[in-house]
Amino acid sequence: MSDFVCIAEMGPRDGLQNESVSVPTGLKLDFIRALSEAGLEDIEATSFVSPKWVPQLADATELWPQLPVGPRYSALVPNMKGLQKALSVGCHRIALFTAASDEFTKANINMTIEESLVGFADIVAQLRESASGSWVRGYVSTAFECPFSGKIEPDKAVSVALRLLNLGVDEISIGDTIGVASPHEVSELTKALLAEIPKEKLAYHFHDTRGTAIANVACALEKGIRIFDSSAAGLGGCPYAKGAGGNLATEDLAYFLTREGLTHSVDLAKLALASLPVLGLLNQCPYAKAQVAVLAESLQK
Ligand code: HMG
Ligand code: MG
Repeated sequence: MSDFVCIAEMGPRDGLQNESVSVPTGLKLDFIRALSEAGLEDIEATSFVSPKWVPQLADATELWPQLPVGPRYSALVPNMKGLQKALSVGCHRIALFTAASDEFTKANINMTIEESLVGFADIVAQLRESASGSWVRGYVSTAFECPFSGKIEPDKAVSVALRLLNLGVDEISIGDTIGVASPHEVSELTKALLAEIPKEKLAYHFHDTRGTAIANVACALEKGIRIFDSSAAGLGGCPYAKGAGGNLATEDLAYFLTREGLTHSVDLAKLALASLPVLGLLNQCPYAKAQVAVLAESLQK
């Protein structure tokens, strides 16, 4: 199994979508440029969603054509209208959202799981027809627990992941949306997933609400998973999951991987600085542990 770990950067999308202070498009582009210069090669840049549902990302069609050259960018697409908007600006790498709980899927995209999957079949078909070199990721959110319906059994998350796989998605990202899971639960779910799905197609998307995300990464790494989603500075949360904390911080993930002797593409010193202008606008201090440590070390030099 490879020593290289892919980091999928969520800051510009998951990191910002829940913030009520509007971040200007120019500042988002500066943030993305800084992430790219810090070595991030895969960045989920925005969402083509209803501006009434997620006002922060209403500038997706303006932002996309201005993205700095370098990284592989993707965008979250919830429905056919989102796909059409994405294609109109040349976005061919999309992320589809569904969940292991009907209640959560309803709250997020106003569809049941079944309705979302039926819609995705047409979206994937149209994407493949319209664009060569297309790529599709499927999210299975609330894979461990739903804020509305409670604990989710691994079989449920596996069955939704398999439905996505059968639609022809290239990658499946398994979400601990409200940051509740512990390593023993990650171990159980990963075993069930790997019985059906090749590990190269699986990513984990941990939120760090209760401080268990790095322990969960360690567990998934042991099982052979090599793709993790994270957000610079630990920005993030979900508008439809009350109390959901930020994503696992990319700084914490990169630091941990390096110390574990695994390779990745991130320059931690550059990354620690990348989110500072956005944090400043949001009136937030850096709080991701590895980011704070790197910034403190640089002040001492
Ligand atoms: P709806 O209200 O049922 O949609 O929302 P509708 O079809 O009735 O349309 C309502 C209005 O939105 C209409 O406009 C449509 O044209 C427009 P109006 O006639 O009222 O002026 N509309 C759109 N506009 C722009 N782009 C579109 C679009 N679609 C319709 N794509 C809808 C359904 C899916 C649109 C809505 O629920 C939505 O946008 N949801 C997105 C929610 C979202 O982004 N949630 C956060 C992402 S998920 C997440 O964070 C979890 C994740 O990180 C993993 C994890 O942590 O586990 C991925
Ligand atoms: Mg998320």
